[in-house]
Parts: sequence; C-alpha cells; structure tokens
Amino acid sequence: MKIHVLKIHVFDRAEQAGQAAAALIAAQLLRKPDTVLGLATGSSPIPVYKALIRLYKMGVISFGQAVSYNLDEYVGIDPAHECSYHRFMDEQLFNHVDMRPEAIHVPDGQAADLARTARNYDAAIRAAGGIDLQLLGIGRNGHIGFNEPNDHFVGGCHVVDLTQSTIEANQRFFNSIDDVPRQAVSLGITAITQAKTVLLIASGSDKAQAVHDAIRGEITPQVQASILQAHPDVHFLLDRDAAALL
Ligand code: GLP
Repeated sequence: MKIHVLKIHVFDRAEQAGQAAAALIAAQLLRKPDTVLGLATGSSPIPVYKALIRLYKMGVISFGQAVSYNLDEYVGIDPAHECSYHRFMDEQLFNHVDMRPEAIHVPDGQAADLARTARNYDAAIRAAGGIDLQLLGIGRNGHIGFNEPNDHFVGGCHVVDLTQSTIEANQRFFNSIDDVPRQAVSLGITAITQAKTVLLIASGSDKAQAVHDAIRGEITPQVQASILQAHPDVHFLLDRDAAALL
C-alpha cells in the first residue's frame, strides 16, 4: 500500500482548528459550488459549523448547489428526537444556511429494512459521483463515523453494534446510559476513503491516544482511522491537547 504524506495542522485552541477546517470547506465550495460534502456530528465539528455559518452570513460562501451525506445515525431514533444526528445537523448547520432540503441526506435509523437502507445510501453517494470532501471526528477508540474497532474494515454502509466505550462516551448527550441506542447505521470505510479530500478534526487530551495511533501506528482495523494513512489528501486539524502524543 502506498503511504502518502499526511497534512497535520496543530493549533493552540480547538476553535482555531474548526476555523481552519471551515476555511478548507469554504475553498472547496468556492472551487466547486455543487460539492458533495460528507458531514459529521459530535462536539468536534461544532466550531467548524459555527465558522461556516459566519462565512455564509457574510456572503462569502453558499451551500445552494451543495449536496450533503451525513456519516451516521442511531438506530431507532426519530429524526426529531433531541439526540438524533438529523436534528443535530439541522440545529448546528442546516437551519442557518441555504442548503436545499432535498440535498440533505442522513441515514434513516428508523427504516424497517436497515440493510436495504444502508445499500441505498451507498448507491445514492455513488450516483452523486462520490464524496468530494469528507469531514470526520474521531472516537476515543479511533472510530470514524461509527466504524468501531474490528478485525477487518467494513466497506459498505452498514448497521453497527456500538462498543461499550462509545456508549459511555456518548451518554453525555442522553438522560441516562440506558437511553443511548446500542446500534447505529454508519457509512463504511469505502465511501469515506474514496472521498477526494478528508478533514479529520480532533481536540482535547481524551483524543490524544487515538490521534497518535491513527497517525503514527500501523494501519489496522483496531484503529479504524489509521486507514487514512493510505489516503492521498487528508488533513488532520488538531488542538495542542489532541496532538500531545505525536
Ligand atoms: C460519535 C460519532 C463520530 C464522532 C465521535 C466523536 O461516536 N459517530 O462521528 O467523531 O462521536 O465525537 P466527539 O467529537 O463528540 O468527541
């Protein structure tokens, strides 16, 4: 496997990493207004979305021709549920910019036939020409999307059993740990790694080990983000704490 040079940017504060990611996304939208964006949830992308909203409100960028595919959604959660990733995206980005509603895609975690939903999600991304720019966070266990540590990489969009560490990490968004869904629908490694450009944003010391293992460790499905070492155009946007072990 060919190993490419990774672009690693370290900033004093998480907010700056977010602004840098927004600058790269803005440049992409200016270069190709009908960009296919791969979008992420979690706390890490929030500063990115805040900065993008500012650029939109200043009239610098438009999402009017863009298309988006989100990485993942919990199984069994209504899109209107306060913890659904659908609602997160509406509140953090879509309600504040000019994305066309029909251009927004989030996996349907409530579908009766989840396997079929997952296949159709991949097919829709392929039909759109693939993802131009994929924004990622990283789990404390090195997951990207909800691709959990595994003995192999799963290529297609699929239903995932969440690990205990992910359930515990995500409990902060729910009333109690019992309310955290045990499964999610996640984009697989193929659509993520076929994105032409990947931006991975991470902040805080609880991400330092995962960031280290993703960048400096061997490429292994036990640290799913390590596959990005083989990607030709990946940027890691980190604050000092997340970069501490590099
Ligand atoms: C969730 C999401 C991931 C995200 C990760 C880290 O598990 N499925 O896409 O990267 O959490 O979240 P945070 O940025 O809140 O630490």
